[in-house]
Amino acid sequence: MTAEYDLKSTVRTIPDYPKPGIKFRDITTLLGDARAFRRAVDELVQPWAGSKIDKIAGIEARGFILGGALAHQVSAGFVPIRKRGKLPHTTVRIAYSLEYGVDEMEMHVDAIHPGERVILVDDLIATGGTAEGAVKLLRQIGANVVAACFIVDLPELGGAAKLRAMDVAVRTLMS
Ligand code: PRP
Ligand code: ADE
Repeated sequence: MTAEYDLKSTVRTIPDYPKPGIKFRDITTLLGDARAFRRAVDELVQPWAGSKIDKIAGIEARGFILGGALAHQVSAGFVPIRKRGKLPHTTVRIAYSLEYGVDEMEMHVDAIHPGERVILVDDLIATGGTAEGAVKLLRQIGANVVAACFIVDLPELGGAAKLRAMDVAVRTLMS
């Protein structure tokens, strides 16, 4: 049994959620498994162990759970990228589309200093619309986006390829 198989078996699939035809990959079961959660966090940032990372940027909401743990792991700050209307200070904002809808996300305009090395994190990449929007926001305020990390990749939806075409290194733990 491979390490990938072990971790993969902790992710649950819910059919027809949140819309008919969507197979929802539910990572709450991975998060609730102490060994799987620790392994996922360790493996997500393993390529950057020992290199300087200034900030981890996490995408609301599941990216927050991973982002705090990753920030601790690499001794970086944490920056939240939130759905519209949730952040109190001046923001930059972008509209984006994802596998099952459209939305807008924001981050504080002063959350990153120009040139800071940032790793973006979320639980899953599907069409890549969400992550693409996040990379654009980060670059708009001067971030050097070193990489984007996800537990789950849905490769048939093309998101990871979309990010690589934007010159972002992509790390995922399972497909
Ligand atoms: C999910 C997931 C990613 C996004 C991926 O978030 O956590 O952020 O969809 O889809 P994409 O690659 O097609 O853009 P969702 O918008 O459901 O938000 P939530 O974490 O707040 O539930
Ligand atoms: N976000 C976009 N598509 C998703 C899926 N199939 N499962 C979980 N989160 C998602």
